[in-house]
Amino acid sequence: MTDHPVYATIDGPIVMIGYGSIGKGTLPLIERHFKVDRSRITVIDPSDAGREMLEKQGIRFIHQPVTRDNYKHLLGPLLTAGPGRGFCVNLSVDTSSVDIMELCREIGALYIDTVAEPWAGFYFDNSKGAAERSNYALRERVLDARRRNPGGPTAVSCCGANPGMVSWFVKQALVNLQKELGLPGAEPVTKEDWAKLAQTLGVKGIHIAERDTQRARKPKPRNVFVNTWSVEGFVSEGLQPAELGWGTHERWMPENGRTHDAGCGAAIYLLQPGADTRVRSWTPTGAAQFGFLVTHNESISIADYLTVRDEKGGVVYRPTCHYAYHPCDDAVLSLHEMFGRAGERQPEWHILDENEIVDGIDELGVLLYGHGKNAYWYGSQLSIEETRMLAPYQNATGLQVSSAVLAGMVWALENPNAGIVEADDLDYKRCLEVQTPYLGPVVGVYTDWTPLSGRPGFFPEDIDASDPWQFRNILVR
Ligand SMILES: NC(=O)c1ccc[n+]([C@@H]2O[C@H](COP(=O)([O-])OP(=O)(O)OC[C@H]3O[C@@H](n4cnc5c(N)ncnc54)[C@H](O)[C@@H]3O)[C@@H](O)[C@H]2O)c1
Repeated sequence: MTDHPVYATIDGPIVMIGYGSIGKGTLPLIERHFKVDRSRITVIDPSDAGREMLEKQGIRFIHQPVTRDNYKHLLGPLLTAGPGRGFCVNLSVDTSSVDIMELCREIGALYIDTVAEPWAGFYFDNSKGAAERSNYALRERVLDARRRNPGGPTAVSCCGANPGMVSWFVKQALVNLQKELGLPGAEPVTKEDWAKLAQTLGVKGIHIAERDTQRARKPKPRNVFVNTWSVEGFVSEGLQPAELGWGTHERWMPENGRTHDAGCGAAIYLLQPGADTRVRSWTPTGAAQFGFLVTHNESISIADYLTVRDEKGGVVYRPTCHYAYHPCDDAVLSLHEMFGRAGERQPEWHILDENEIVDGIDELGVLLYGHGKNAYWYGSQLSIEETRMLAPYQNATGLQVSSAVLAGMVWALENPNAGIVEADDLDYKRCLEVQTPYLGPVVGVYTDWTPLSGRPGFFPEDIDASDPWQFRNILVR
């Protein structure tokens, strides 16, 4: 890709919060695909690690954390300096998405993030119960902000690869299935249409099914958590309770499963950490594999989006939806080491950059199961080699995220008064049109695998043979 389309002009200041693995990869895409004035870009990060790189590019760097106490007087003036509309790109950990998003909307700036992040301390607060530490609770805060203040300046919540891009993949996969199964009808437009299509197709559930095969040149040292993206982010979410959108076809719930008393009601949580919860899943490269049921915003938002209700508001249909994540092998070992010590975090963390990875792909897609064609995986198989050719300063995982941020920013600039939106609310075609050049092969693959394939083996198992797609069969116990 040498002829890079310029999608829009950003005529105001751009403030990027956080310059970690995703920030470093996103900044060059912003400069490549928008008309921007570099002198009006500011990056804020409490870590000094990126200072030299930014100064070389002539980009202003503020070496400071964004906190509950300073965010208004730090971000407000930066986002309103000079003419034009500001754009806040939040790619940090430990900053409250809701508070910053609400500030941006008050001052008329556009906003995007990749996770519903809380202020520092939330994830490891012993005084909070599991429900309070859930992504369900974090998402409800965003939905509450939207209810209190509908419309107004666009703030895109949770628009990375997942959460984010995978919501667009779900729609594309539903449309592909509709064609494949010969189901008549026009392409869905509204949320209700999409939910109805998923119901009519008989989709029982959706895995966000990922296999990251990126391999480091050097083996993981002991006592170091190694990953292909934020270790801080992964450890935080990995220690939250496992959470999943809870489908209407489920007939069994684990004993430690809990529902929520308030809110959308689309999800349940388990009284165990997601990164120590294994599920059976499938991707084209991994084929049958274990993944971790790490909590993610999209497990809840997709299940909520695809819920069909009757006139009284009762739930008639909803797919089960959750992450089934096989991270890179070094991260699997890192989790094993960490949970072997009752979740005590390693003293050192390391994110593999594009030069440290010898080969591999990040295969990230959605597995729609339980319909007339059994199961269908649709997603991106981006390799490290292709990533190096496509864009600088990131590995394959990073590019799947940064290109989704790019797509979300394009959509926000084209729809600047849409209020608070989730990836499910965006125009999936437009977003995939912007993002696909950065995704490597994007493929749809059918499989006859089910979570009961090859089971039971040598030992008796508690399975439900009448329906392979019960969570009872998917959860490893
Ligand atoms: N949706 C997705 O697909 C997806 C994928 C990867 C990462 N993410 C999220 O994106 C964010 C960035 O990921 P990353 O891999 O770049 O993480 P990272 O750990 O590499 O970088 C995070 C950066 O935030 C900075 N930071 C910490 N506290 C801060 C504060 N108070 N104010 C400002 N900056 C602060 C850190 O110094 C660091 O540079 C994380 O929240 C992560 O969970 C989302």
